[in-house]
Order: sequence, then structure tokens, then C-alpha cells
Amino acid sequence: MSAPEIMEAVSPNGGSTVEREDLSKRFARRVSVNEHYSRKAVSYQGNRAAPGLRWMKYKEGFSSRLVAELVDEVEPQAVLDPFAGICTTPLVAVGRGRDAMGIEIMPVGVLVGSAIAEASNGLSPPMFDHCRAALLSHTRNGHATPDEFAFPHVPITVGAFPPGTEEEIARARSFIAAVDDTGLRSLLNLACLSVLEESSYTRKDGQYLRWDKRADRPLRSSVDLGSIARFSDALERRFAEISEDVDALKKQYGGGHPDLVTGSCLELLKDIPTGAFDMVITSPPYANRYDYTRTYALELAWMGFDRGDFSALRQRMLSATVENKGKMEWLGDIYGENRETLDKAIGMYAGQGAVHEVLGILGERAAELSNRNILNLIEQYFSEMAVVVAELGRVVRPGGVAIMVNDNVQYHGEELPVDFILADFAEQAGFQCTNIWKLARGKGNSSQQMARFGRRELRKCVYRWIRTDD
Ligand SMILES: C[S@@+](CC[C@H](N)C(=O)[O-])C[C@H]1O[C@@H](n2cnc3c(N)ncnc32)[C@H](O)[C@@H]1O
Repeated sequence: MSAPEIMEAVSPNGGSTVEREDLSKRFARRVSVNEHYSRKAVSYQGNRAAPGLRWMKYKEGFSSRLVAELVDEVEPQAVLDPFAGICTTPLVAVGRGRDAMGIEIMPVGVLVGSAIAEASNGLSPPMFDHCRAALLSHTRNGHATPDEFAFPHVPITVGAFPPGTEEEIARARSFIAAVDDTGLRSLLNLACLSVLEESSYTRKDGQYLRWDKRADRPLRSSVDLGSIARFSDALERRFAEISEDVDALKKQYGGGHPDLVTGSCLELLKDIPTGAFDMVITSPPYANRYDYTRTYALELAWMGFDRGDFSALRQRMLSATVENKGKMEWLGDIYGENRETLDKAIGMYAGQGAVHEVLGILGERAAELSNRNILNLIEQYFSEMAVVVAELGRVVRPGGVAIMVNDNVQYHGEELPVDFILADFAEQAGFQCTNIWKLARGKGNSSQQMARFGRRELRKCVYRWIRTDD
């Protein structure tokens, strides 16, 4: 880089952008707008009418169409998604005749994926119709239930339901507990889980749960969420959708059961044999402070998560919140002697100049940050993603393809080009980053950031990395 360019390269906080400029020089030519990848394709909006996937509005998901097109283009034998969410990738891949594995840390996602796979492969419609009618009747008219079936609240869910809904929920839970068939039981659980939000005084809203003023909570809200669905009515509507979808599901996802594993990919990828997959389609959590354990509090509590389970889950997730503690020591322990890939990842992170450039600038402004732990978040997000990318470089065989959906972020006016940073990791892990397809419209910065640092649109991208020959 010539001297005048270095002198001009000054960040909104007066720091250097040399490292980010260098990354940009390396990768900017791989960036192109791809009209085909709309907000709808890379978000749950594309699944609003998709059989099965429409049952649970998993706002963090991408569309089945995106996965189907990518799988048809590459024609892989075996597909992996290490951040599987409600298992869109493995379900679609298996439905198209491929082997597929999904790893997802939130049991809610794996329950949804397993129930869809079950409904696509083994469900007996007459048995389901009989069971849903009995469950609805019991939920509406059943007798009082023992306490053991009450909704197992944790502090962050207390007061979420009107009293009548609490009673209906307890009756539904007592009915489901007596269902022997595991496939049917998971489908009934999914149906109930999927309507908890609409029958509660909460709404998922970005990083938080928004509360209605009618909720019986110590901290009063002033928000009115309008009419709240009766639990059994919402359940009846969901059951109707499930029945409506069964034929389409058999056609779309009827190729068998994908391998769905509940756990952390940071822990599980290391046990996957080298070269086991020829395609990865994934979208990790974004580095944006979004806390899944808060937004999915009702669903996790339904599944029996107590307070300790919530904080354990938050700490095991890929670090993307200011509450996460570092995992590198723990990773050292679980890798033990066989730490070649871990050491590679540590080296990839240590040499990543752009991340350290941003950390240096923000470190000097730590007192001005909305939360000082943003520094930890950035460090941990990228060091953990280095581990994931290094492992993907190992488990994807030469010639294989990895596709990743992710957003760039900024903190205190300093942009982190997540797409370029991960491309740098990918190229050190044995991939060539061939494309960074950006959506025609990126993501605007928050109004506070805009007022202080000016308007900036952050890229929302789909990356394609090809595994080169060793
Ligand atoms: C952007 S979402 C992926 C959604 C998915 N593409 C879909 O269509 O449903 C990221 C997912 O990563 C999961 N996750 C976070 N940390 C994880 C970890 N360490 N291992 C596996 N999954 C993790 C989150 O629970 C979340 O479901």
C-alpha cells in the first residue's frame, strides 16, 4: 500500500484501517451483488409457505429453496450443517437423496427437525388425526392436572401466559406425557412449542423478548401486543397446517432421516472423520449480540430447561453476546493431545490483522462503549469461528464446497468485515473463497450509530468457498 493511501486510511474513531484495507484489496473483487439471493431467500420469510418448516417461525433460519438450489447445483453425496437451527439443510438434502448431518446446540431446533423428518417418513395420518382430536379435547375440557405438568417456568418466563392458558398448557402437557409413540410425541410437542409465543404476553423482537403490559411481571411494560391467541385455538390451527402438509412433506423430505445431533459443533466437529463431507451449507450466529437463550426462553422452558441449564447453554453457544466467557481453555482440554487443527485455528486468529486492528481501536475507547464486554465478544467470536472454519477445512474433501450466510457488523463506528475475515480463515484452512455474493440491500446501522458515525450499510452475504486439493 502506498503512503498516501495509508494516511487516508483513518477510521471513524481516528484509528488505522490499514489491515481492513489490505483485506479489502484481497477479497473485494470476489464480492458481487447476486439478485438471486434476496432477503427472502436467506431468511425465514422464504419458509412462510414451506411445508413443515412453516410450523415453527424460526426467524434465524434460511429458506428451503436456497438449500434445494445449492444442493441441486453441486450434487454432493454428503452435506453438513454445523449450525443447523431447525435443520433446514439436512432435511432438504436428505429429501434430495443425499446423506446429511445437522449439529445444533439448541434442543428446540433438533426437536423441530426430528418431528418434521418423522412426519415426512413414518406418520400415520389416521393415528395423528385421532391423537390431535384427543389432545385438543383434553386441553379444552380436561380436569385439573397435578402440579408436575404445570409449565416449568424460569424467572425470565414467569407471567408469560394468562391464567387460562397456564391451565390449558398443563392439560396438554399431561396428555403428551402419556403418548408412547416417540415420533408422534415429538410432533405434538413441536405443535405446542410453535404456538407458545402467540398465546403468550411476549413477542420475539430482535435480541429480546418484548413484554405486554398485561403480563404479571414486577417490571411493568407499556407495550400493548393486541389480542393474544387462546392456546388451544392456536394449537388447532397448527394441527390443521400439519395435516395439510403431510402429503407434500412425504414428497419433499421423504428420503429418510437425516443425522441430527444436539450439541456444540465446537466440540463435535473434531470427531468427524477427515473428508467425510463434500458440501457444507450453514449460517452461524452473527456477531451481533443476539441471545438465542432469551428469545427462545419459552420454548426451552417447555423442554424442561431450568435456570442452570439456561446459563450453561448460553456459555456453550458460539460466543455472540456480551455475556459469553472465553472457551479456548476448555477447547484445549477437550482437544487434548490431538490438537493439530486447534493449533492451526489459534494461529489463524492470532495472525488476523483486521480483528486486532478493531480490537486495538475499541480497546482505547473502552470507556465509551455501551458495554466493555464487546471486546470479549469480538475476540471470542472470531477465535471460535477460526476453530469452526479450520475444522470445516478438514472435514470437507478436496473439490467440496462450503456455503455460509452471515452479516457484517460494526461496533462504535468500527466495521468488522466478517465476510473478508472469514474468507481469510477459509483460505488458510484449505479453501479458496470464490464468491462473496452480497444482497442488493444490506443492513443499515442503528439510529444511535448513524447519528454519531454517519449512515453505513453493512453487507449481508452468502459466501462460497471451494476446498482445494491438499
Ligand atoms: C443463524 S442460525 C441457523 C439457522 C438455520 N440455517 C436454519 O435454517 O434453521 C444459527 C444457529 O446456530 C446455533 N448455534 C449456536 N452456537 C452453536 C454451537 N456451538 N454449535 C452448534 N450450533 C450452535 C444456534 O442455536 C442457531 O440455531
